[in-house]
This record gives sequence, C-alpha cells and structure tokens, in this order.
Amino acid sequence: MIRFRLIGRFHSICWTAVAAFALSMIGITPLAPAQGVDNVIQPGERWLDDRGQLIQAHGGGILRLKDTYYWFGEDRSQTNDPDKRYVACYSSRDLAHWKFRNQVVAIADPENLGPKWILERPKVFYNAKTRKFVMYAHLDGPGYKIARVAVLTSDTVDGNYTYVKSFRPLGQESRDIGQFIDDDGAAYLIFESRPTKGFFIARLSDDYMDVDKQVAFIEAPLEGGAVVHYEDLYYVVGSHLTGWRPNSNVYATAPSLSGPWSAMKDIAPPEMNTYDSQSSMLIKVAGKKTTSVIYVGDRWKPQELWDSRYVWMPLDIGAGNLSLPKPQNWRINVRTGVVSIVPDSKP
Ligand code: DGJ
Repeated sequence: MIRFRLIGRFHSICWTAVAAFALSMIGITPLAPAQGVDNVIQPGERWLDDRGQLIQAHGGGILRLKDTYYWFGEDRSQTNDPDKRYVACYSSRDLAHWKFRNQVVAIADPENLGPKWILERPKVFYNAKTRKFVMYAHLDGPGYKIARVAVLTSDTVDGNYTYVKSFRPLGQESRDIGQFIDDDGAAYLIFESRPTKGFFIARLSDDYMDVDKQVAFIEAPLEGGAVVHYEDLYYVVGSHLTGWRPNSNVYATAPSLSGPWSAMKDIAPPEMNTYDSQSSMLIKVAGKKTTSVIYVGDRWKPQELWDSRYVWMPLDIGAGNLSLPKPQNWRINVRTGVVSIVPDSKP
C-alpha cells in the first residue's frame, strides 16, 4: 500500500518534470508547480499535507529532532467539535512536504472558562532530562481577559498531550506566546504582556514545567513574538496589536538575549502590511554551506480560520538588518541551508 503510494507520488513528480521540460522546449513557460512539488514553497497558497488536506498548524511552532522537523499549530478544521480546542502535529524532513502525525490535543475547556474559551499559538519543547515533550499554549477566556499559559505534556512527540495546568508566567498577563531555543539548547518562552506593554523573555525551569527567571523585557506594545540568534546578534520580530488584521511587523536586535535591545524597525515596506501576514516564528536552518532564516507568518482569515494561510519566506538577514522580501516561490535544501527563488513563479 505504502509502496504504491510512493510509486504514485514518484510518477506524478516525474510527469510534472517531463511536462515542464516539453513545454519549455516549445517556448511555453509553465506556471510554478504546486505547493510542495519539487520542494517548492508558495507563500500564501493552499498547503496540503500527505493526506491532501489543508495543513492545520496556525499560530504554530517548530521543534527539530535530529533530521525531522515537527510543526505544531492550532487545528481549526471545520469538522472539529466547537466545544473543544485542537492542536495538530505534522512532520517533514525537507520543510516542503508535511506528513500529518496526529491531532495531539483535542480537549474540552480545562478551566471552566466558558463556551468561547481560547487555546492558541501552541509551542512544543523537548526536555532531555525528563524525556517529556512539554507544550505551552495561550489559554484564555472570552474577550481574552484571562491571559495565562497552559502546559500539556506527552511522552512522545506526536502522542496525545495531557493537560497539566495553567499559570501566568512571572505573575504577568500572557497572551501571544513564542518559543526560542538557543544554540546551547537553553529554552525560553516569549510572551506578550499587555499591561506592561512589551515582550518578556523568560528561561524555562529545569523540567520546563514553569518559567524560571526573566531574561529580558522588551518594551514595545507588540504580539506574535519570535526570536532567532543569527551570527552574533539576537533578533526579535513582532506585530502591532490589530487583532486578526495584518500590520507592519517590526524587529529589534541585541548582542545578548538580555539586551540592550535596539529600537524597532519595519521588516518590510510598511504599506505592504507584512504582505498580509502576522509573525509566528523564525526558523533557523544551519546547513553545511550556509545558514538561512525563514520568516513564518499567518495570513489569518478570521471568518474561515481553517483556510488561513501561511507565509513562509527566507529573510534577508545579517549585520543588524532584517528584511522580509516580497513573497515569491522558493525552495530550500535543508542539508546545505541554501535557499533559492523559483523563477517564473506567481507572486
Ligand atoms: C492576534 C493574535 O496574534 C492571534 O493569535 C489571535 O489571538 C488574534 N489576535 C485574535 O484577535
């Protein structure tokens, strides 16, 4: 069965290549291949998993284990029970093809928050000491007034995560969360605190079940916080507070996670509204030839959240500058780290 599927897939890729070659011989440039085919990533286009279903990993996070990337995110499938909240998990070795692993969270309101309770922006960390996978997510009630994090655990990366508890990290209101794992393996939670108008960066405790201490507070009323360490600088990206609507996302840099953090600058021409997306995470791919950093944003569709799109695009980054190029089709070789723009692609 699996063999047939593999053969079928191989044939379809071959036929795509043959058709493209034949068309190019008679002077017709074919449209770019579909999302994932030939490893092409098409920012903002429908992105299907190995089952042919829309990937449900909104407001997501990525955990890399050896050569496999695991993408977790809000599962907003229309078929979901409206009283429950869901997180899906996918895996990939090339960042282009994603295999559905499991609906790793499918839980009913764990804290009696009411029918419109919220579970958003899940992020998973692996704790090597306890051998547990620890998920953090933004837990809230109607109107986003509760502002806590939920913690769930699993013994396996794609197992069913069990709800453990919720709390306010550092005693602060916490809405959008981000995750950051530094090159030395240290794990941090980034969270947006509305009353203090900024991002906290907090180191996780030894077992990752709590936050240990504040590492930084970046004063800027932003959400959708994402951090990456690139060359000798830390970069933070965030979005302004406009709900589901996109705005011009900004970034700052610092020589150390604790700062001092620079002033914020736009990541793209402000009139582009981050190409209709909102920051979610930054993926660093350190390959044999080079290191690339990918911006991952959500293009929300609040009325049809299940069809919200993903804007994945390699950043121009270095020497304190970060800029998000206009989305175009592209591909990455995760072994070398080299990214390339796919020519003749739709913008
Ligand atoms: C912006 C946040 O970044 C999203 O995750 C979501 O909470 C929306 N606000 C809801 O308006």
